[in-house]
Amino acid sequence: MNLVLGVSGSVAAYRSADLARELMRAGFVVRVCLTDAAEKFVTQALFEALTGQPCLTSAFDEPVAGRMAHIDWARSADVILVAPATANTLNKLAAGIADDMLTTLVLASEAPLVIAPAMNPHMYGSEVTRNSLDELRARAASIVEPLEGDVACGEQGQGKLASISAIVDAVREITARSAKLAGKTVLITSGPTREPLDSVRFLSNRSSGKMGSALARAVMLMGGQATLVCGPGSARPPLGAQVVRVETALDMLEAARGLAQRADLIVGAAAVADYRPEQSAHGKIRRSSEPIELRLVPNPDVIAELGKVAKPGVRIVGFAAEPDSALDAARQKIVRKGLFAIAVNNVSRPDAGFDVDSNELSLLFADGRTARSGLQSKLSCALWLLEQIVDSP
Ligand code: PMT
Repeated sequence: MNLVLGVSGSVAAYRSADLARELMRAGFVVRVCLTDAAEKFVTQALFEALTGQPCLTSAFDEPVAGRMAHIDWARSADVILVAPATANTLNKLAAGIADDMLTTLVLASEAPLVIAPAMNPHMYGSEVTRNSLDELRARAASIVEPLEGDVACGEQGQGKLASISAIVDAVREITARSAKLAGKTVLITSGPTREPLDSVRFLSNRSSGKMGSALARAVMLMGGQATLVCGPGSARPPLGAQVVRVETALDMLEAARGLAQRADLIVGAAAVADYRPEQSAHGKIRRSSEPIELRLVPNPDVIAELGKVAKPGVRIVGFAAEPDSALDAARQKIVRKGLFAIAVNNVSRPDAGFDVDSNELSLLFADGRTARSGLQSKLSCALWLLEQIVDSP
Protein backbone atom coordinates (compact mmCIF):
# COMPACT_ATOMS: atom_id res chain seq x y z
CA MET A 1 0.00 0.00 0.00
CA ASN A 2 1.21 3.50 -0.89
CA LEU A 3 1.27 6.03 1.93
CA VAL A 4 2.14 9.70 1.58
CA LEU A 5 3.50 11.13 4.82
CA GLY A 6 3.11 14.92 5.00
CA VAL A 7 5.36 16.58 7.55
CA SER A 8 4.74 20.18 8.61
CA GLY A 9 6.87 22.52 10.68
CA SER A 10 6.60 21.53 14.31
CA VAL A 11 9.44 20.53 16.65
CA ALA A 12 7.76 17.11 16.60
CA ALA A 13 8.88 16.78 12.96
CA TYR A 14 11.98 14.96 14.27
CA ARG A 15 9.67 12.07 15.28
CA SER A 16 8.32 11.64 11.76
CA ALA A 17 11.59 9.91 10.80
CA ASP A 18 10.85 7.10 13.26
CA LEU A 19 7.22 7.20 12.17
CA ALA A 20 8.24 6.67 8.53
CA ARG A 21 10.33 3.63 9.52
CA GLU A 22 7.51 2.18 11.62
CA LEU A 23 5.07 2.57 8.73
CA MET A 24 7.53 0.83 6.41
CA ARG A 25 7.79 -2.03 8.93
CA ALA A 26 3.97 -2.20 8.87
CA GLY A 27 4.18 -2.84 5.12
CA PHE A 28 3.58 0.61 3.59
CA VAL A 29 5.59 2.13 0.77
CA VAL A 30 6.21 5.55 2.33
CA ARG A 31 6.82 8.72 0.35
CA VAL A 32 7.34 11.96 2.23
CA CYS A 33 6.34 15.52 1.45
CA LEU A 34 7.79 18.36 3.56
CA THR A 35 6.42 21.87 3.99
CA ASP A 36 8.86 24.81 3.97
CA ALA A 37 8.60 25.08 7.75
CA ALA A 38 9.25 21.34 8.18
CA GLU A 39 12.54 21.81 6.34
CA LYS A 40 13.70 24.04 9.20
CA PHE A 41 13.64 20.90 11.40
CA VAL A 42 14.26 17.92 9.08
CA THR A 43 15.68 17.45 5.61
CA GLN A 44 14.75 15.97 2.27
CA ALA A 45 17.98 13.94 2.33
CA LEU A 46 16.99 12.31 5.64
CA PHE A 47 13.68 11.02 4.31
CA GLU A 48 15.05 9.99 0.93
CA ALA A 49 17.72 7.94 2.71
CA LEU A 50 15.20 6.41 5.13
CA THR A 51 12.49 5.54 2.64
CA GLY A 52 14.43 5.00 -0.59
CA GLN A 53 11.80 7.18 -2.29
CA PRO A 54 11.89 10.76 -3.59
CA CYS A 55 10.82 13.39 -1.05
CA LEU A 56 8.80 16.40 -2.24
CA THR A 57 9.47 19.86 -0.84
CA SER A 58 8.17 22.35 -3.38
CA ALA A 59 4.91 22.70 -5.32
CA PHE A 60 6.86 22.41 -8.57
CA ASP A 61 8.88 19.29 -7.74
CA GLU A 62 8.58 16.66 -10.46
CA PRO A 63 10.61 13.55 -9.61
CA VAL A 64 9.32 11.82 -12.77
CA ALA A 65 9.73 14.25 -15.66
CA GLY A 66 6.44 15.14 -17.33
CA ARG A 67 4.27 13.79 -14.49
CA MET A 68 2.98 16.48 -12.17
CA ALA A 69 3.83 15.09 -8.75
CA HIS A 70 0.89 16.63 -6.88
CA ILE A 71 -1.50 14.74 -9.17
CA ASP A 72 0.64 11.64 -9.56
CA TRP A 73 1.10 11.18 -5.80
CA ALA A 74 -2.51 12.18 -5.06
CA ARG A 75 -3.80 9.47 -7.42
CA SER A 76 -1.51 6.70 -6.33
CA ALA A 77 -1.86 7.25 -2.57
CA ASP A 78 -3.90 4.64 -0.73
CA VAL A 79 -3.75 6.81 2.37
CA ILE A 80 -2.33 10.22 3.28
CA LEU A 81 -1.00 10.88 6.77
CA VAL A 82 -0.10 14.38 7.96
CA ALA A 83 2.11 14.05 11.06
CA PRO A 84 2.89 16.34 12.66
CA ALA A 85 0.12 18.66 11.46
CA THR A 86 0.72 22.22 12.65
CA ALA A 87 -2.12 24.67 13.30
CA ASN A 88 -1.30 26.39 10.01
CA THR A 89 -1.38 23.20 7.91
CA LEU A 90 -4.44 21.81 9.68
CA ASN A 91 -6.44 25.01 9.25
CA LYS A 92 -5.39 25.25 5.58
CA LEU A 93 -6.47 21.65 4.95
CA ALA A 94 -9.88 22.38 6.46
CA ALA A 95 -10.30 25.53 4.36
CA GLY A 96 -9.14 23.90 1.12
CA ILE A 97 -6.15 26.24 0.73
CA ALA A 98 -3.54 24.76 -1.59
CA ASP A 99 -0.48 26.99 -1.45
CA ASP A 100 2.30 24.42 -1.15
CA MET A 101 2.95 20.86 -2.31
CA LEU A 102 1.43 19.16 0.76
CA THR A 103 -1.86 21.06 0.86
CA THR A 104 -2.17 20.85 -2.94
CA LEU A 105 -1.60 17.12 -2.89
CA VAL A 106 -4.19 16.53 -0.15
CA LEU A 107 -6.76 18.66 -1.97
CA ALA A 108 -6.17 16.73 -5.19
CA SER A 109 -6.53 13.32 -3.58
CA GLU A 110 -9.52 11.10 -2.88
CA ALA A 111 -7.45 8.95 -0.50
CA PRO A 112 -8.45 8.54 3.15
CA LEU A 113 -6.75 11.13 5.35
CA VAL A 114 -5.20 10.70 8.80
CA ILE A 115 -4.08 13.80 10.69
CA ALA A 116 -1.91 13.83 13.81
CA PRO A 117 -1.79 17.41 15.13
CA ALA A 118 1.07 18.81 17.22
CA MET A 119 1.05 22.42 18.38
CA ASN A 120 0.88 24.81 21.30
CA PRO A 121 -2.13 23.93 23.55
CA HIS A 122 -3.73 27.37 23.05
CA MET A 123 -3.53 26.97 19.30
CA TYR A 124 -5.05 23.48 19.60
CA GLY A 125 -7.85 24.71 21.86
CA SER A 126 -8.65 27.80 19.78
CA GLU A 127 -12.07 28.06 18.23
CA VAL A 128 -10.60 28.27 14.72
CA THR A 129 -8.67 25.03 15.14
CA ARG A 130 -11.66 23.30 16.80
CA ASN A 131 -13.86 24.29 13.85
CA SER A 132 -11.25 23.03 11.40
CA LEU A 133 -11.05 19.71 13.23
CA ASP A 134 -14.86 19.39 13.08
CA GLU A 135 -14.77 20.17 9.37
CA LEU A 136 -12.06 17.60 8.71
CA ARG A 137 -13.88 14.96 10.77
CA ALA A 138 -17.08 15.70 8.82
CA ARG A 139 -15.09 14.83 5.71
CA ALA A 140 -14.16 11.50 7.35
CA ALA A 141 -10.56 12.40 8.17
CA SER A 142 -9.26 10.44 11.12
CA ILE A 143 -7.77 12.72 13.78
CA VAL A 144 -5.18 11.20 16.12
CA GLU A 145 -5.63 13.41 19.16
CA PRO A 146 -2.44 14.97 20.56
CA LEU A 147 -1.45 14.11 24.12
CA GLU A 148 -1.47 16.24 27.26
CA GLY A 149 1.90 17.19 28.71
CA ASP A 150 4.84 19.58 28.43
CA VAL A 151 5.17 20.98 24.95
CA ALA A 152 8.34 22.35 23.35
CA CYS A 153 7.41 25.99 24.00
CA GLY A 154 7.43 25.33 27.75
CA GLU A 155 3.67 25.31 28.28
CA GLN A 156 1.52 22.46 29.52
CA GLY A 157 -1.64 21.11 27.93
CA GLN A 158 -2.95 19.11 24.98
CA GLY A 159 -0.64 19.52 22.02
CA LYS A 160 2.07 16.83 22.01
CA LEU A 161 2.16 14.61 18.95
CA ALA A 162 0.43 11.28 19.70
CA SER A 163 2.55 8.17 20.14
CA ILE A 164 3.95 6.56 17.02
CA SER A 165 2.03 3.36 17.76
CA ALA A 166 -1.27 5.31 18.06
CA ILE A 167 -0.62 6.98 14.70
CA VAL A 168 0.29 3.68 13.00
CA ASP A 169 -2.86 2.08 14.49
CA ALA A 170 -5.03 4.90 13.09
CA VAL A 171 -3.48 4.39 9.66
CA ARG A 172 -4.02 0.63 9.90
CA GLU A 173 -7.65 1.16 10.92
CA ILE A 174 -8.45 3.51 8.07
CA THR A 175 -6.75 1.31 5.48
CA ALA A 176 -8.55 -1.79 6.80
CA ARG A 177 -11.81 0.08 6.35
CA SER A 178 -10.79 1.11 2.85
CA ALA A 179 -10.65 -2.54 1.76
CA LYS A 180 -14.01 -3.62 3.17
CA LEU A 181 -15.93 -3.13 -0.05
CA ALA A 182 -13.07 -3.83 -2.46
CA GLY A 183 -14.42 -5.32 -5.68
CA LYS A 184 -18.05 -4.76 -4.62
CA THR A 185 -20.71 -2.69 -6.33
CA VAL A 186 -23.20 -0.89 -4.11
CA LEU A 187 -26.47 0.41 -5.53
CA ILE A 188 -27.90 3.43 -3.70
CA THR A 189 -31.20 5.18 -4.27
CA SER A 190 -31.04 8.83 -3.25
CA GLY A 191 -32.92 12.10 -3.10
CA PRO A 192 -36.60 12.85 -3.64
CA THR A 193 -38.83 11.88 -6.51
CA ARG A 194 -41.04 14.36 -8.35
CA GLU A 195 -44.53 13.27 -9.32
CA PRO A 196 -45.93 15.65 -11.96
CA LEU A 197 -49.34 17.29 -11.57
CA ASP A 198 -49.00 19.09 -14.88
CA SER A 199 -46.09 20.29 -17.03
CA VAL A 200 -44.91 22.82 -14.42
CA ARG A 201 -45.97 21.45 -11.03
CA PHE A 202 -45.11 18.37 -9.07
CA LEU A 203 -45.49 16.62 -5.70
CA SER A 204 -42.20 16.08 -3.92
CA ASN A 205 -40.51 16.26 -0.51
CA ARG A 206 -37.58 17.90 1.28
CA SER A 207 -34.92 15.30 0.54
CA SER A 208 -31.71 16.91 -0.77
CA GLY A 209 -29.82 13.77 -1.75
CA LYS A 210 -27.09 14.54 0.83
CA MET A 211 -27.47 11.21 2.61
CA GLY A 212 -27.33 9.27 -0.65
CA SER A 213 -24.26 11.16 -1.87
CA ALA A 214 -22.57 10.60 1.51
CA LEU A 215 -23.27 6.88 1.15
CA ALA A 216 -21.73 6.87 -2.33
CA ARG A 217 -18.61 8.65 -1.02
CA ALA A 218 -18.41 6.19 1.90
CA VAL A 219 -18.63 3.23 -0.49
CA MET A 220 -15.68 4.67 -2.42
CA LEU A 221 -13.69 5.29 0.78
CA MET A 222 -14.26 1.61 1.56
CA GLY A 223 -12.87 0.56 -1.80
CA GLY A 224 -16.16 -0.18 -3.58
CA GLN A 225 -17.89 1.09 -6.72
CA ALA A 226 -20.94 3.26 -6.01
CA THR A 227 -23.93 3.39 -8.33
CA LEU A 228 -26.31 6.18 -7.45
CA VAL A 229 -29.85 6.36 -8.79
CA CYS A 230 -30.86 9.81 -7.70
CA GLY A 231 -33.85 12.03 -7.92
CA PRO A 232 -33.50 15.77 -8.39
CA GLY A 233 -31.60 17.04 -5.36
CA SER A 234 -29.10 19.70 -4.57
CA ALA A 235 -26.34 17.40 -3.29
CA ARG A 236 -23.52 16.81 -5.73
CA PRO A 237 -22.67 13.11 -6.14
CA PRO A 238 -18.98 12.29 -5.59
CA LEU A 239 -16.68 12.16 -8.59
CA GLY A 240 -16.14 8.57 -9.58
CA ALA A 241 -19.63 7.32 -8.68
CA GLN A 242 -21.83 6.03 -11.49
CA VAL A 243 -24.84 8.36 -11.49
CA VAL A 244 -28.24 7.80 -13.08
CA ARG A 245 -30.62 10.74 -12.75
CA VAL A 246 -34.36 10.15 -12.52
CA GLU A 247 -37.48 12.17 -11.81
CA THR A 248 -40.39 9.98 -10.74
CA ALA A 249 -40.74 6.87 -8.58
CA LEU A 250 -41.54 4.86 -11.71
CA ASP A 251 -38.32 6.13 -13.36
CA MET A 252 -36.39 5.27 -10.22
CA LEU A 253 -37.77 1.75 -10.19
CA GLU A 254 -36.98 1.19 -13.85
CA ALA A 255 -33.40 2.50 -13.58
CA ALA A 256 -32.63 0.72 -10.30
CA ARG A 257 -34.14 -2.57 -11.43
CA GLY A 258 -31.72 -2.71 -14.35
CA LEU A 259 -28.75 -2.11 -12.03
CA ALA A 260 -29.83 -4.28 -9.09
CA GLN A 261 -28.79 -7.55 -10.73
CA ARG A 262 -25.13 -6.43 -10.65
CA ALA A 263 -25.20 -5.06 -7.10
CA ASP A 264 -23.51 -6.72 -4.12
CA LEU A 265 -25.32 -4.47 -1.67
CA ILE A 266 -28.38 -2.24 -2.06
CA VAL A 267 -29.18 0.81 0.08
CA GLY A 268 -32.44 2.75 -0.25
CA ALA A 269 -31.83 6.29 1.01
CA ALA A 270 -34.29 7.88 -1.41
CA ALA A 271 -37.45 9.53 -0.16
CA VAL A 272 -39.70 8.00 -2.79
CA ALA A 273 -43.17 9.48 -3.10
CA ASP A 274 -45.65 6.88 -1.89
CA TYR A 275 -48.35 8.28 -4.20
CA ARG A 276 -48.49 9.98 -7.58
CA PRO A 277 -51.30 11.88 -9.29
CA GLU A 278 -53.40 9.45 -11.24
CA GLN A 279 -53.24 11.83 -14.16
CA SER A 280 -50.76 14.48 -15.07
CA ALA A 281 -52.23 17.31 -17.15
CA HIS A 282 -50.44 18.48 -20.29
CA GLY A 283 -49.61 22.16 -20.09
CA LYS A 284 -50.58 24.14 -17.01
CA ILE A 285 -53.70 23.59 -14.91
CA ARG A 286 -55.48 26.97 -15.10
CA ARG A 287 -56.81 28.79 -12.08
CA SER A 288 -60.57 28.93 -11.67
CA SER A 289 -62.96 29.66 -8.81
CA GLU A 290 -63.95 25.97 -8.60
CA PRO A 291 -62.15 23.52 -6.28
CA ILE A 292 -60.28 20.76 -8.05
CA GLU A 293 -59.88 17.20 -6.88
CA LEU A 294 -56.61 15.43 -7.02
CA ARG A 295 -56.71 11.65 -7.13
CA LEU A 296 -53.52 9.91 -6.06
CA VAL A 297 -52.57 6.33 -6.80
CA PRO A 298 -49.91 4.33 -4.95
CA ASN A 299 -46.39 4.13 -6.35
CA PRO A 300 -44.56 0.82 -6.37
CA ASP A 301 -42.26 0.16 -3.44
CA VAL A 302 -38.88 0.51 -5.15
CA ILE A 303 -36.75 -1.16 -2.50
CA ALA A 304 -39.14 -4.09 -2.12
CA GLU A 305 -39.18 -4.61 -5.90
CA LEU A 306 -35.36 -4.58 -6.03
CA GLY A 307 -35.35 -7.52 -3.63
CA LYS A 308 -37.12 -9.59 -6.28
CA VAL A 309 -34.39 -9.09 -8.90
CA ALA A 310 -31.24 -8.84 -6.75
CA LYS A 311 -28.67 -11.64 -6.68
CA PRO A 312 -29.45 -14.26 -4.01
CA GLY A 313 -28.10 -13.31 -0.58
CA VAL A 314 -27.59 -9.62 -1.39
CA ARG A 315 -28.19 -7.46 1.67
CA ILE A 316 -30.82 -4.78 1.20
CA VAL A 317 -30.82 -1.88 3.63
CA GLY A 318 -33.64 0.64 3.84
CA PHE A 319 -33.91 3.99 5.53
CA ALA A 320 -36.94 5.06 7.54
CA ALA A 321 -37.83 8.70 7.88
CA GLU A 322 -39.85 8.77 11.10
CA PRO A 323 -41.29 11.86 12.78
CA ASP A 324 -40.34 10.58 16.27
CA SER A 325 -37.98 8.12 17.91
CA ALA A 326 -40.53 5.26 18.07
CA LEU A 327 -39.14 2.31 16.17
CA ASP A 328 -42.17 0.02 15.77
CA ALA A 329 -43.19 1.36 12.37
CA ALA A 330 -39.63 0.86 11.11
CA ARG A 331 -39.55 -2.74 12.39
CA GLN A 332 -42.67 -3.47 10.34
CA LYS A 333 -40.95 -2.05 7.24
CA ILE A 334 -38.11 -4.57 7.61
CA VAL A 335 -40.58 -7.41 7.20
CA ARG A 336 -42.85 -5.75 4.63
CA LYS A 337 -39.97 -4.76 2.36
CA GLY A 338 -37.78 -7.85 2.87
CA LEU A 339 -34.81 -5.90 4.29
CA PHE A 340 -31.61 -7.04 5.98
CA ALA A 341 -31.73 -3.90 8.13
CA ILE A 342 -33.28 -0.46 8.30
CA ALA A 343 -31.62 2.82 9.36
CA VAL A 344 -34.10 5.04 11.17
CA ASN A 345 -33.63 8.79 11.26
CA ASN A 346 -35.82 11.05 13.34
CA VAL A 347 -36.83 13.65 10.79
CA SER A 348 -38.49 15.95 13.35
CA ARG A 349 -35.04 16.95 14.70
CA PRO A 350 -33.37 20.05 13.28
CA ASP A 351 -29.96 18.33 13.10
CA ALA A 352 -31.02 15.05 11.46
CA GLY A 353 -32.87 13.77 8.42
CA PHE A 354 -33.82 16.03 5.53
CA ASP A 355 -31.48 18.58 3.99
CA VAL A 356 -28.96 18.98 6.82
CA ASP A 357 -25.32 17.86 6.90
CA SER A 358 -25.59 15.73 10.04
CA ASN A 359 -27.68 12.72 10.97
CA GLU A 360 -28.21 10.18 13.73
CA LEU A 361 -29.22 6.65 12.85
CA SER A 362 -30.83 3.85 14.82
CA LEU A 363 -30.04 0.69 12.94
CA LEU A 364 -32.49 -2.19 13.30
CA PHE A 365 -31.49 -5.57 11.91
CA ALA A 366 -33.98 -8.19 10.75
CA ASP A 367 -32.52 -10.59 13.36
CA GLY A 368 -33.44 -8.19 16.20
CA ARG A 369 -30.03 -6.60 16.83
CA THR A 370 -29.88 -2.81 17.16
CA ALA A 371 -27.12 -0.19 17.03
CA ARG A 372 -26.92 3.60 17.20
CA SER A 373 -24.56 5.87 15.30
CA GLY A 374 -24.68 8.96 17.51
CA LEU A 375 -24.97 12.42 15.94
CA GLN A 376 -22.33 12.73 13.19
CA SER A 377 -21.80 14.17 9.74
CA LYS A 378 -23.75 12.32 7.06
CA LEU A 379 -20.48 10.97 5.70
CA SER A 380 -19.45 9.57 9.09
CA CYS A 381 -22.97 8.10 9.53
CA ALA A 382 -22.68 6.51 6.09
CA LEU A 383 -19.29 4.96 6.92
CA TRP A 384 -20.63 3.72 10.24
CA LEU A 385 -23.72 2.22 8.61
CA LEU A 386 -21.83 0.45 5.83
CA GLU A 387 -19.31 -0.97 8.30
CA GLN A 388 -22.17 -2.26 10.46
CA ILE A 389 -23.69 -4.00 7.46
CA VAL A 390 -20.44 -5.41 6.05
CA ASP A 391 -19.22 -6.62 9.46
CA SER A 392 -22.55 -8.31 10.29
CA PRO A 393 -22.55 -12.09 10.37
O1 PMT B 1 -31.67 13.45 1.14
P1 PMT B 1 -31.41 14.09 2.48
O2 PMT B 1 -31.87 15.53 2.53
O3 PMT B 1 -29.98 13.93 2.90
O4 PMT B 1 -32.30 13.34 3.55
C1 PMT B 1 -32.06 12.03 3.86
C2 PMT B 1 -33.34 11.24 4.13
C3 PMT B 1 -34.05 11.79 5.35
C4 PMT B 1 -34.27 11.34 2.90
C5 PMT B 1 -32.90 9.75 4.33
O5 PMT B 1 -32.04 9.66 5.42
C6 PMT B 1 -34.11 8.84 4.54
O6 PMT B 1 -34.61 8.70 5.63
N1 PMT B 1 -34.58 8.20 3.45
C7 PMT B 1 -35.81 7.38 3.45
C8 PMT B 1 -37.00 8.28 3.41
C9 PMT B 1 -38.29 7.49 3.27
O7 PMT B 1 -38.89 7.56 2.25
O8 PMT B 1 -38.58 6.70 4.26
P2 PMT B 1 -39.87 5.70 4.25
O9 PMT B 1 -40.02 5.29 5.66
O10 PMT B 1 -41.04 6.35 3.57
O11 PMT B 1 -39.41 4.48 3.34
C10 PMT B 1 -38.75 3.33 3.87
C11 PMT B 1 -37.81 2.75 2.83
O12 PMT B 1 -38.55 2.33 1.66
C12 PMT B 1 -36.75 3.71 2.31
O13 PMT B 1 -35.56 2.96 2.14
C13 PMT B 1 -37.29 4.18 0.97
O14 PMT B 1 -36.22 4.51 0.07
C14 PMT B 1 -38.06 2.97 0.50
N2 PMT B 1 -39.21 3.27 -0.34
C15 PMT B 1 -40.30 3.94 0.16
C16 PMT B 1 -41.39 4.14 -0.65
C17 PMT B 1 -41.37 3.68 -1.98
N3 PMT B 1 -42.41 3.86 -2.79
N4 PMT B 1 -40.28 3.03 -2.45
C18 PMT B 1 -39.21 2.83 -1.65
O15 PMT B 1 -38.20 2.26 -2.09
